[in-house]
Amino acid sequence: MKRFLSYIWPTTKRIESAVNGTLEVTWINGKKVVDTKNANYSYGSLQRILKFGLSKTNVSSASNILILGLGAGSVVQTLREDFIFEGEITAIEYDEVMIAVAENEFNIISDDSLEIILGDAFLYVNQTNNEFEIVIIDLFIDKDVQEACYSIGFWKSITTIVKTGGYVIFNAGFNNTEVAKLDKIIEAFKLDFNFQKFEKVENSSTLIVGEKLPKTIL
Ligand SMILES: C[S@@+](CC[C@H](N)C(=O)[O-])C[C@H]1O[C@@H](n2cnc3c(N)ncnc32)[C@H](O)[C@@H]1O
Repeated sequence: MKRFLSYIWPTTKRIESAVNGTLEVTWINGKKVVDTKNANYSYGSLQRILKFGLSKTNVSSASNILILGLGAGSVVQTLREDFIFEGEITAIEYDEVMIAVAENEFNIISDDSLEIILGDAFLYVNQTNNEFEIVIIDLFIDKDVQEACYSIGFWKSITTIVKTGGYVIFNAGFNNTEVAKLDKIIEAFKLDFNFQKFEKVENSSTLIVGEKLPKTIL
């Protein structure tokens, strides 16, 4: 019923999060989306941006995927429903309210194929011994990419956890002032990844997709 009525008038539920501010869960045109004050956070255009990124990878043959920034889990839905991905997904999220939204509003729940970890993504990539075929970096607070996504140390960790021939997808958002930092990372890690840069995906975001190259012997 809510779905049907949302074609006529959208309805919004507001949920307070100490980390992400007010989260708005809105039924609109037959779909539920999550927004923060200034950004679409899950489902909606964010979901289409990551779907575009995944279409540039080997997702159909991947066996495991790491998501940094679960949000309400729209990329999990994309993987399962659009790419029929049946491998293992590990998702890191440090806002427990957001994890509850994923669970209660979208039925995104830890199970045999999805491990949701409440914790800091930067610590996780630093400490894990696991390797992944695809790593998705989608770490925002409202409209801003987390600053540490532009650090050399973070990308060194990403280099070690992505398998050779695997991919990293980085949603760099739509803040043009970050272009120089992004280009610095692309330059610094160009021997590790074959990067492609896509601008104005869904008329907004810059998306980086990098294929992990074999180690070069100097
Ligand atoms: C745009 S949302 C992610 C949307 C999600 N990928 C999806 O598919 O729907 C960004 C998320 O990153 C999370 N986040 C930001 N910094 C983080 C960090 N250091 N560690 C873990 N999660 C973080 C935020 O709490 C927020 O839920």
